[in-house]
Amino acid sequence: MDSMEQITASKTRVIAIANQKGGVGKTTTTVNLGAALAELGQRVLLIDLDPQANASTGLGINPRAIEKNMYDVLLGDTPLEDTLEPAADVEGLFVAPSSLDLAGAEIELVPGFNRERRLIDALAPIVDDYDFVFIDCPPSLGLLTINALVAATEVLVPIQCEYYALEGVGQLVRNVDLVRKSLNQALEISTIVLVMYDARTKLAGQVVDEVRNHFGDKVCKIVIPRVVRLSEAPSYGQPITVFDPDNRGAQAYRDLANEVLGNELDLESAPAVAPPAPGVGIAPETLTETSADDDAPAESSNEAQAGIDEAAADAKEEE
Ligand SMILES: Nc1ncnc2c1ncn2[C@@H]1O[C@H](COP(=O)(O)OP(=O)(O)OP(=O)(O)O)[C@@H](O)[C@H]1O
Ligand SMILES: [Mg+2]
Repeated sequence: MDSMEQITASKTRVIAIANQKGGVGKTTTTVNLGAALAELGQRVLLIDLDPQANASTGLGINPRAIEKNMYDVLLGDTPLEDTLEPAADVEGLFVAPSSLDLAGAEIELVPGFNRERRLIDALAPIVDDYDFVFIDCPPSLGLLTINALVAATEVLVPIQCEYYALEGVGQLVRNVDLVRKSLNQALEISTIVLVMYDARTKLAGQVVDEVRNHFGDKVCKIVIPRVVRLSEAPSYGQPITVFDPDNRGAQAYRDLANEVLGNELDLESAPAVAPPAPGVGIAPETLTETSADDDAPAESSNEAQAGIDEAAADAKEEE
């Protein structure tokens, strides 16, 4: 069996977390969904494919103190296994750390033989040791992201409930199609996660509607709220589920983990769920609940709505 057959035949879900737009919550979702799944007893491997190494540092790993990292795997002969670090505070969660050197990999890989398959070849021998493999992608559609899309069977796209949320998503959809046609037939965008939802802005609700109209049931019911604690946790090297287990951000990622596992959801107690389709009864207060640790609400305006319409139209056109 070649690497692709091995990964497709495996029961392990290999999920690339991708969106070429920067700062949309890829790493936050990788780290916290990964930790929440591990908490539920899943064995989870996080592959940090971003030279910024935010997933590594966010789980308490200092890339400078690490001997072997993803650079050595993609450009050298280091087996993926030799890079793995257990996340300090979460049993069952392992990290293949990144390093700044990975920034050079985009260029160094260009003339390389089998340059799109470096990651899948490294992952195949150990894929069965895990229930989930998450690949945190950099904010670009370069060779690192292509390596992730070739190794993965699923793509999870986090979308910010903000102005221009859908900007560039059409391009991502197109690229996933290209990779499916040429390099990885098994690949599909399986999961859209709405993040940084602020219930107090009309805009956030409009983005949720727009994304649902566009992607239908690929969009998770659980929506991740914007909470300051989620942005504080990485500087303590901990996922939110450890840093502030009772925070509603932690609860949201736990609920999301259950949804991803296909478990029954208790929507009544969910901290944030997408607004109901007509006829589906979800108490309005679950959508308007706020807490003191939230960021100040962003301004919603006609101009902002125009931005969403435009971005949505672009995304549709690009498809
Ligand atoms: N739900 C949330 N509530 C509040 N802050 C958040 C939330 N999700 C992410 N953030 C913060 O927003 C910023 C961007 O998030 P993150 O690093 O996860 O995005 P990214 O898509 O991985 O970025 P990049 O493209 O640079 O890799 C970070 O400072 C993060 O802490
Ligand atoms: Mg990131």
